[in-house]
Amino acid sequence: MNVAHKDISKTGAGTVLDVEALRGDFPILARRIRGKPLVYLDNGATAQKPRVVLETLDNYYRNYNANIHRGVHTLSGEATAAYEGARDRIRKFINARANAEVVFVRGTTEAINLVATCMGWGGVQRGDEIIISAMEHHSNIVPWQLLCERSGAVLRVIPINEAGELIMEEYARLLSDRTRLVAVTHISNALGTVNPVKQIIEMAHARGALALIDGAQAVPHTAVDVQTLDCDFYAFSGHKLFGPTGIGVLYGRQAVLEKFPPYQGGGDMIKMVSFEKTIYNDLPYRFEAGTPDIAGVIGLGAAVDYVTAVGLDRIAAHERDLLEYATDAARGISGLRIIGTAKEKAGILSFVLEGIHPHDIGTILDHDGVAIRTGHHCAMPVMEFYKVQATARASLAFYNNRADIDALIKAIAHARQVFH
Ligand code: ALA
Repeated sequence: MNVAHKDISKTGAGTVLDVEALRGDFPILARRIRGKPLVYLDNGATAQKPRVVLETLDNYYRNYNANIHRGVHTLSGEATAAYEGARDRIRKFINARANAEVVFVRGTTEAINLVATCMGWGGVQRGDEIIISAMEHHSNIVPWQLLCERSGAVLRVIPINEAGELIMEEYARLLSDRTRLVAVTHISNALGTVNPVKQIIEMAHARGALALIDGAQAVPHTAVDVQTLDCDFYAFSGHKLFGPTGIGVLYGRQAVLEKFPPYQGGGDMIKMVSFEKTIYNDLPYRFEAGTPDIAGVIGLGAAVDYVTAVGLDRIAAHERDLLEYATDAARGISGLRIIGTAKEKAGILSFVLEGIHPHDIGTILDHDGVAIRTGHHCAMPVMEFYKVQATARASLAFYNNRADIDALIKAIAHARQVFH
């Protein structure tokens, strides 16, 4: 039923990635942009898809497209098996205890909104406190602001230092018996900082608070084990993990999810409906009202298989090496200031260039075939902290190589030439 995962055999054994072979798994990397080879360094925004994911999606729509959990016919059975099979593999990928803890949502944003909304309905009150950090993406700020507006709870913010690291002493000071939840990012999309999430979670639990981790930028780059972290929620998106857009995962500790009221009502989230009373379904279906993104889930399952076969430890080692190479090269460019210099950093290089607006850098780089993101990266408070309106950001994936970094540095030099 599913496409055989043939591409991943090229990864080779040992600790070093065969990046050149892996690049062959991604058809888009053969594209040319304005006559130049594509250098894709916008993986923080979305990652490219290996052939096996594309074929898995095609195979579903071509050969067994049907709704799940609803039909007795063969196609529906096949689609249900593929959908639930993917859930099981995604559970293993993050080491959740049970499939009941793996809820499919549209992405990280919806996962966080689900938790914030259900916590609001579930009793957050005036005077309660929610702690986030100064380096959060808007999707881990605004849902909590909405919750606070509606409930009278108070939002507290862990400050960061110049390097872009959380000031842990300040976090300790903010925690109190009023803290209901701490929500922080695992890896900052704007700075690349890797946060000490295990310690953050432990400290939250010690004060009786729940802990949510935004893992959108982490799952493609580092192995995540929700039992080791001991978080209550872990949110991530499929499309940054080499899977389709429009699908994501909310991991929720079963005992906590069980106490949540339903998020949305509709088909599949119920056991029995009458006009007098509705009995809700078991987890995780209680939080999956309506026809879900069946293809997205099956495609994400294929992406998780692919990444697992490549090996997250090898991915992390390769990206560490590449970030160091890129950082050294960037430091050699006069007028370039790196934004985000944390000791623990993942493959994100945010920077500003004296005298050139980041959007102009991005446009010139595009002329050289180099795709980066420019702007506030949906993290306006981070921009405010560094007193910049925007940054240019190169973000890595395991299929990037030193030639990509060389092309980036050359294109930045070109931008400087044009503007000076
Ligand atoms: N949050 C994504 C990024 O950082 C879209 O680019």
